Amino acid sequence: MCGIVGYIGKSSAVDVLLDGLTSLEYRGYDSAGIAINVDGHVDLYKAKGKLQNLKLIVDKSREHIERSTIGIGHIRWATHGAPTTVNAHPHSCNCGRVAVVHNGIIETYKELREKLESEGCNFRSQTDTETVAHLVASKFAQTQDLTEAVRLATLEIEGAYALCVIHQDVKNTIVATRRNAPLIIGIGQGEHYVASDVPAIIQYTKKALYLDDNQIATLTPDTLDIIDINNNPVVQKVEVLPWEPVALSKMGYKHYMLKEIHEQPDVVRNVLSGKLKAIDEQINLSEVTLDREKIRGLNRIQIVACGTSLHAAMVGKYLIEQFCEIAVDVEASSEYIYRKTITDENTLVIGVSQSGETADTITAVRLAKKKGSHILIVTNRPDSTMAREADSLVPVNAGIEVSVAATKSFMAQLLSFYLLAIYMAEIKGLMKKEELEKIKHELIVLPQKLEEILTNTEDIKACARKFSSFKDFVFIARGINFPTALEGALKLKEISYINATGYSAGELKHGPIAMLDETMPVLAILMSGTVYEKILSNAEEAKARNARMIAITDSTDEKLGNIFECIIRVPHIDELLSPIAAIIPLQLLAYYIAEFLGKDVDQPRNLAKSVTVE
Ligand code: G6P
Repeated sequence: MCGIVGYIGKSSAVDVLLDGLTSLEYRGYDSAGIAINVDGHVDLYKAKGKLQNLKLIVDKSREHIERSTIGIGHIRWATHGAPTTVNAHPHSCNCGRVAVVHNGIIETYKELREKLESEGCNFRSQTDTETVAHLVASKFAQTQDLTEAVRLATLEIEGAYALCVIHQDVKNTIVATRRNAPLIIGIGQGEHYVASDVPAIIQYTKKALYLDDNQIATLTPDTLDIIDINNNPVVQKVEVLPWEPVALSKMGYKHYMLKEIHEQPDVVRNVLSGKLKAIDEQINLSEVTLDREKIRGLNRIQIVACGTSLHAAMVGKYLIEQFCEIAVDVEASSEYIYRKTITDENTLVIGVSQSGETADTITAVRLAKKKGSHILIVTNRPDSTMAREADSLVPVNAGIEVSVAATKSFMAQLLSFYLLAIYMAEIKGLMKKEELEKIKHELIVLPQKLEEILTNTEDIKACARKFSSFKDFVFIARGINFPTALEGALKLKEISYINATGYSAGELKHGPIAMLDETMPVLAILMSGTVYEKILSNAEEAKARNARMIAITDSTDEKLGNIFECIIRVPHIDELLSPIAAIIPLQLLAYYIAEFLGKDVDQPRNLAKSVTVE
C-alpha cells in the first residue's frame, strides 16, 4: 500500500500530484506529502491524516510552488512508524537536497540505519524509507549522478519497493525504480508521469509502460531512459492503456460503498455477458488456456487469496468440489508462503485478488509457478502484476471499486467461480444436462432477484438501527454459506469496528456458545437446502442461551418469528447460489450500522484497499 506519484514536464506539478494522490487514496490515507523543486530548491509539504489536510497546507504556499514543473508525491498507509507528519513521505537526507517517496518495505532498514547513523546521517523519522533518502544522498555525493546513486542504493537494500527520487542539484530529473511493488510510467508530450497505479495518470495520458522489477527509469520532460540493475539499457514496450478516465462519482448515494452494493445486479450481468449466453450453450472462458486434457486430468487445485477474496475462494472450493469432483484446498496467501506446500505441475493454482497487487498473493502464486503449476488468476485488474504473471486469466469485470470494504468485487469473484466450476464440469462431462441447465437458468435470472433485495431494504435498516449499539456479534451458517458468514462478519468489523466473528453453526456448541447471552446477538444465515434444519437447531440452541437472534433467510415460514427477533427475507434461491443472495443483506446491514454510528464508511481507519506489503 501507499501510493506514489511523480510529474516532470511543462505544466505546474502541484495539481498533477494532488490529483494523482486523490485517485490513489484507496492505497492508504493516514498522511500525505509532496516534494517540489522550486527554483532549484526542494520544498517538502506534509500533513497527517486525510489528503485534504495536505491540500490545505499546499494552498497556503500555492503562489510560491505553482511555477514548479517537477515534483513527487505520496499517500501513506503506515508500516514503520506511526502516522505522523514527521513519518509522512517524502523523506530527505541531512542536507535536504534529496526527496524520496516509497511504497513497500525496506526489510534491511535497521542494519542500514545503524550503518548510516555511524556515518553521520541524522534520522528524523521512524520510517524504513528514510534510510533510502540517506543512502541515495551518500551515493550521489560519490557519483554526482542521480540514476547511478539510485542504482547503487538499490544494490544495498532488500525488500519491496517502488521509489521515486528527486535531487535539488539535478533540477530536471526524476529517477524511479521498483522491486515487487507496482509502478507505471506515463508518457505525454514533453512530459512524463510516474505512479503506483493507472488512475493517477489516466486523465493526462493513455501511453504508458510498466517497469519490471529492478529496472531504473530516468525521466526528464523529453527523455525516458531505462536500465537494469547491472546498468544495461533496457527497452520496455509502450502500451496504450485500455482505460477511459473515470469520473468517480457517488451518483447520489451517500457513500461509494452504498453505490457499489447497488451496482451488483449490473455486475452480475457484466460477468455473465459473453460467457454464459444460453442455458443450452457451454460456458465460454476463452482466457483459460489450460488445455482440456489437463483439466480432465487435474486431481488437485489450490486457491490462494486474502481478505474478502479468500471468502470468495472458499465458495469456489465448494463449487468446484461439488461440480467437478476435484479436491480443492483454500488457504490465506500469507500462510501458504511460509510452509512446505505440496504443489507441482499437476496442481492448478488459482490466485484471487480484486487488485491483483496483494503482496502475499503475488508471492504465493510465484512460489507455485516456480514449482511448475499452471497459474490461473481471478482479478478485477487485468493490467495488474498478478494478471501479468498469469498463465490463465479470469477477469471479473466489476468496474472500479472505490470503497475500501469490498462488495461488488466479491460478487464478481463469486460469479467467476460459478462460471469456472461449470466450465470445468462441462469439460469433465460430470454433471447431468438438466442440472447444468438449472444452474445456468438460475444465474441468468439472478440480477432480478438481487434488484428485489436492493429495493426492499426497510427491514435491514430497522435491524441495523436496533442492533447498532451492540459491541459483539456472532454470525453462523453451514455449508456453502459458511464463507458468507465470514464475509458478513468481516464487513461489519471493517466499517463499524464492531467485533463480529463468523462460525460454522455446527461449531457453536464446541466452545463459542459459552460467550452467548443477551449482549451478544447471533445472526444466522438460514437458506433453504440441505443444512436448513441443522442451522435452525443451532439457532434454537443460541436462543436458549438468551442470545438475541437475527435471520437472513429465503424461507417464508411464519414460525421463524418464534426464534428470530429480526428476519431479513430474500427471494427463494437454489442452495448452490444462495451466497449470492445472502451476502447483499449482510453488506447492507454492516453499511447501515456503520452509518448510524457515524463511521467513515468508505475509508475505515487502519485499512487500505490494496496491500502491497507482506
Ligand atoms: C485488503 C483490503 C480487503 C481485501 C484484501 C485482499 O485487506 O482491505 O478489502 O479483501 O486486501 O485484496 P485483494 O485486492 O487481493 O482482493
